[in-house]
Amino acid sequence: MQSIQDLSWEEYSALPISRRAECLSRTDGMPLHTIFAQQFDRASLDRLCDSATKIRAIAKSRAGMQFLQGLLFHKRAMIYFTQPSSRTFLSFLSACQILGLRTGEVRDASVSSEFKGESREDSIRTFSSYFDLIVMRTREKGLAERMAWALSQSKRPVPIINAGSGKDQHPTQALLDVYTLQRSFERRGGLRNRTVVYVGDLARGRTVRSLSHLLTHYEGIRHVFVSPSALRIGDDVLADLKDAGAQFEVSDDLAAWLPEADAVYMTRIQDEWDESAGESAKIDTSRFKIGPEQMRMMRPDAILMHPLPRRDEIATEVDSDPRAMYWRQVRNGMWIRTALIASTFDCLSRIDHWFRDNL
Ligand code: NCD
Repeated sequence: MQSIQDLSWEEYSALPISRRAECLSRTDGMPLHTIFAQQFDRASLDRLCDSATKIRAIAKSRAGMQFLQGLLFHKRAMIYFTQPSSRTFLSFLSACQILGLRTGEVRDASVSSEFKGESREDSIRTFSSYFDLIVMRTREKGLAERMAWALSQSKRPVPIINAGSGKDQHPTQALLDVYTLQRSFERRGGLRNRTVVYVGDLARGRTVRSLSHLLTHYEGIRHVFVSPSALRIGDDVLADLKDAGAQFEVSDDLAAWLPEADAVYMTRIQDEWDESAGESAKIDTSRFKIGPEQMRMMRPDAILMHPLPRRDEIATEVDSDPRAMYWRQVRNGMWIRTALIASTFDCLSRIDHWFRDNL
């Protein structure tokens, strides 16, 4: 297999996604750069979920925290977010702190040299001179991948983790969603033979695009995409599911699917992508919200998820319902991102050993 260093951008970017996924990963199948959901298979997902659970147990004690903080105290991470974020940013910051990585951050391009006209590419090359890991969120589809390729050609091929790229991908959100689903169903037959109902702005939301792909690695998952017709899921996502042999439905009738769902995954309207002012406001989204009445239609053992931030698509009265998982998702995100960073630096077996010897 040709390695990424030997390929020009033209050659690399013309490859099918499965080959690009191989180029971005290590020979053990774990990602080196984490750019898109197609890099994960069932083994790497199980490895990360298992490591996240071990890390959260290890972190409960002072001795465990000391062990974790020693793992990567000699490394530094740049958290480079040029798109709004609170949760994902803090989640990565916390994950770095748990592993002892020191961090730098740029959250606003107007205070960086980009304001003087520097390209994103040049900024990222600069970060790679100072840091050992770059976690980046950007409005630009494909930029994280292009930078992963560019850094692979350089003398310091530091890993990149995509923390959200345009309307396209959000692989670490998808990891935390899978981890949440797996934990929610682990004592009830596991994450298999489940109906997952995705709701909201499926045309422009990146979380569902990444999550639906990860769920193709779990047996018998039926995907149901519920949205107003103007915000329908992309045909490329459906083609991806078809290729994977997954079962899926597209609907605009939330009420019809609520009683069938094992998990309802709500998303907000992504109006920052509107092409004309007020475009989203013209869409009738009233039938795509969850309140107490919709919760009564859901099964008692179903779960309700949301990547957050929410607006009014889930009423706050629902928060105290034991089926509401969105605050747990936030916490799970910190642990699975800690596992991903530890994996990026090949520390998972040290975590296994400490767990085995001490817990
Ligand atoms: C999501 C995102 O940025 O795509 N937020 C997050 O990372 N939890 C969802 C959203 O912004 O709606």
